[in-house]
Amino acid sequence: MNALDLLYQGKAKSAYLTEDPDLLVLQFRDDTSAFDGEIIEQLSEKGAINNQFNAFIMTQLADAGIPTHFVERLSATDALVKRLDMIPVECVVRNKAAGSLVRRLGVEEGLNFDPPLFELFLKNDALHDPMITEHHVEAFGWATREEMARMHELTLQTNSVLKSMFEEAGLQLVDFKLEFGRFHGDIVLGDEFSPDGCRLWDKVTGEKKDKDRFRQKLGGVLEAYREVAERLGIVFDH
Ligand code: TMP
Repeated sequence: MNALDLLYQGKAKSAYLTEDPDLLVLQFRDDTSAFDGEIIEQLSEKGAINNQFNAFIMTQLADAGIPTHFVERLSATDALVKRLDMIPVECVVRNKAAGSLVRRLGVEEGLNFDPPLFELFLKNDALHDPMITEHHVEAFGWATREEMARMHELTLQTNSVLKSMFEEAGLQLVDFKLEFGRFHGDIVLGDEFSPDGCRLWDKVTGEKKDKDRFRQKLGGVLEAYREVAERLGIVFDH
């Protein structure tokens, strides 16, 4: 499938149209942003790492019965995906307290949530992704009540699948963010799952193995991403 015109350029990925109106080519770039795009840097090979990481995770999720937009990986940095009508709502699950939750509520980092905590944010950099509730989603018409219920269900299901998977690899899945869209009437997982959009802590040492290394200027960002991938058994193209 050939990539034609650029449809959309996000902070870390670009989407290109194809001859098939139902399919897009998603290109994972090396751009790495934090704080709603306030900081942007290029990390060499991050695009290739995240594309291959995402392909692995999306395949695992599909095998577990979760509908995703992922069709196939086309190259080191590109994937063929279904074209979704994206819902501008970020679904976050937290198994442990970190990040904005710690800042917002003043709780200790690492506090356990069982059952996991589910939160919603509006995807809007200019407003700094404000926290919203399912009532806002319905009132503003971003999604129907039924669609919201399905996103909630699929996010928790994703957490169950991935939490065990990472645990077997010696990693704690602290939290993550998912984005969904509509495809011919169904709610389908879109965007990506990579260390850019989740928090992973080493089970033994507690060391951070995700984008917090970039946000907090800890260094070794891609070394950590590669290590996580290796622990999952992902073999890179190059
Ligand atoms: P937060 O602690 O900043 O609210 O983020 C929770 C998780 O969701 C964390 O793993 C990062 C991810 N996330 C994104 O990747 N992008 C976003 O815009 C937001 C709000 C969260």
